[in-house]
Amino acid sequence: MSEFALKKNPQPQSDAVREAILAAPAFGTQFTDHMAHIRFTTEQGWHGHELIPYGPLTLDPAAAVLHYAQEIFEGMKAYRHADGSVWTFRPEKNAARLNRSAGRLALPQMVEEDFIESLRVLVQADSSWVPTPKDEQDEVSLYLRPFTISAERFLGLRPTQQADYYVIASPAGAYFSGGVKPVSIWLSQNLKRAGRGGTGFAKCGGNYAASTEAMIEAGQKGCQQVMFTDAVDGTHLEELGGMNLMLVTSDGRLITPEVSETILDGVTRRSLLDLAPSLGLTPEERPVTVEEWRTGVADGTIVEAFACGTAAVITPIGALVSEDFTVDHGDEPGEITMKLRKTLLDIQYGRAEAPEGWMV
Ligand code: COI
Repeated sequence: MSEFALKKNPQPQSDAVREAILAAPAFGTQFTDHMAHIRFTTEQGWHGHELIPYGPLTLDPAAAVLHYAQEIFEGMKAYRHADGSVWTFRPEKNAARLNRSAGRLALPQMVEEDFIESLRVLVQADSSWVPTPKDEQDEVSLYLRPFTISAERFLGLRPTQQADYYVIASPAGAYFSGGVKPVSIWLSQNLKRAGRGGTGFAKCGGNYAASTEAMIEAGQKGCQQVMFTDAVDGTHLEELGGMNLMLVTSDGRLITPEVSETILDGVTRRSLLDLAPSLGLTPEERPVTVEEWRTGVADGTIVEAFACGTAAVITPIGALVSEDFTVDHGDEPGEITMKLRKTLLDIQYGRAEAPEGWMV
């Protein structure tokens, strides 16, 4: 593991400004005083590990990321526990996924210890930016956004020879402004997010960009999020673009589409599947069709649905809306959904014992 040179921000935000931000943080709008940075070149590998003041990047207009979207990222959170200590959740899973994404985008892979250390130095320097939850309903945290971009000044397309890795941090409240109110989901039948052999499993900016047009469509239909289906014939459920899908059955099964080339292997998704048996639920990872969801709700087999992800935590789904039908889950969050949500948040905020090694 390499050491980070510390270059303190000479002009950090005042205590008064920081405290005003922390009193009611929104999602993704405010940033802390520092950021971590490591540079990669083919000649030197990863080098120049540093913690520097947060601020705009200087990029050559010909930098490959601006033209060919050679970019990958992660999303994670740091949580303040009641004793004041600050913890991240399963960061080794994000490190491994960043490297899988790097492999697919031909960006350089990192030493996992350097990834963890970059989070540690940033969270330590900006620990006063980690919000304290007011009560057990409050889901404030310090959202961490590690990302790698191809910074080389070259308009030819090739696996990158120069990259920059950064971590920025943002005090965050709930991703959806309505909190845990059920959201409605638009079933995208024409616009697809990912295809076989593509980048769907990688956490790269391009996948997220490709999901935004469908968000406009969703908005026009009065929905807040989009459910993507497979690009072959659209019969199978995949993911929501920034979140995974889970369905709960009346006989206690927790069903989610299995991860594949086209579905992101979410850390929240994986953790809920790991926790399911302790709550008397049977996890099922397998192909799931739109038809199964529709008929399952109609005949009472499927009783709850929710979206899960680092930013969204667990967000109940109130309805799945398509051109041809609406699947209605009602206006109240489901009981199992809320039980899973509480179990996860209690672990993350240190109110319940975490499985070995989960909190770092
Ligand atoms: C996250 O949940 O951390 C993500 O990266 C999804 C993004 C749309 C906020």
